[in-house]
Amino acid sequence: MTGDKVTIVEVGPRDGLQNEKRIVSTEDKLALIELLAQAGFSRIEATAFVSPKWVPQMADHDAVMRGIPRRSGLTLSALVPNEQGALAAIQAGARELAVFTSASETFAQKNINCSIAESLQRFRPVLALAAARDIAVRGYVSCAVECPYEGPIEPAAARSVSARLLDLGCSEIAIADTIGRATPERVEPMLAEVLQAVPRRQLACHFHDTSGLALSNVDVALGHGIRTFDSAIGGLGGCPYAPGAAGNLATERLLEHLDRHGHVHGIDRDALAGALQMAQSLKENRSVRET
Ligand code: HMG
Ligand code: MG
Repeated sequence: MTGDKVTIVEVGPRDGLQNEKRIVSTEDKLALIELLAQAGFSRIEATAFVSPKWVPQMADHDAVMRGIPRRSGLTLSALVPNEQGALAAIQAGARELAVFTSASETFAQKNINCSIAESLQRFRPVLALAAARDIAVRGYVSCAVECPYEGPIEPAAARSVSARLLDLGCSEIAIADTIGRATPERVEPMLAEVLQAVPRRQLACHFHDTSGLALSNVDVALGHGIRTFDSAIGGLGGCPYAPGAAGNLATERLLEHLDRHGHVHGIDRDALAGALQMAQSLKENRSVRET
């Protein structure tokens, strides 16, 4: 198990910056992404092609996606809620898409203004567009353990939505603790259940770190053989439609943890210093929505 390659999906430019109170300039976003790319990430979620009325911080998605210099070995992805977003993201050069729904009905309504079943219908044309262009689509399952509106979520709900995303053609399921309230005791049965439907190589974990338990939850996932994790530089992050959702697991903490346990990740931690410094300066203007 030790020595295994772990892939990190850096989500700071999207999940991190979507929740900043101040609108971060396109120039700053591009500078942050460039610093991250220089540190060696193979996957960066760069922006979200969502409605600017819902998330004004991502309104410059087109300029961000088009403005990033392409490098070999780096896949730039975009979060998309529907066909409109997918078309725009592909036209702007996204090489991976991420659709997002939830294991909680109430959260789906609050975040994407539709039921879980409706969201899955909306994803069909997204998957078709992507398949025609050989573009991979990740499927997020928010609130896989805890919902800010419904409370605890049954593992069976996380499994069922994951299985439906896989059936639709998603190549990876990102199982998310949206508000960072999951404990290892609750992540364990949830993952055991989801893994009955999703092969471990196709499962990624996306932990927010509100309670400081994200690394313990990573350990549970590592124990299940999961080798893909999301994190955000400087612990940026949150979701505007999930009250109490603080930052994502900080990339620098995840890297340190993986190094300590002998996992290979391919990121140059020294080269990450510039990105970390920039993320920290952006964080000084932290969103008022965060706790
Ligand atoms: P709606 O209002 O129900 O949609 O929103 P609509 O189809 O009625 O469209 C309303 C307006 O939005 C129209 O414009 C559309 O053109 C426009 P208008 O005619 O009023 O001028 N529109 C779009 N504009 C740009 N890009 C698009 C798009 N689609 C419609 N793709 C919708 C439904 C899904 C669009 C909306 O609810 C939305 O954009 N929600 C996004 C919410 C969001 O981004 N949340 C944060 C990201 S999720 C997250 O952080 C969780 C995650 O990190 C995992 C975890 O931690 O759990 C991924
Ligand atoms: Mg998130």
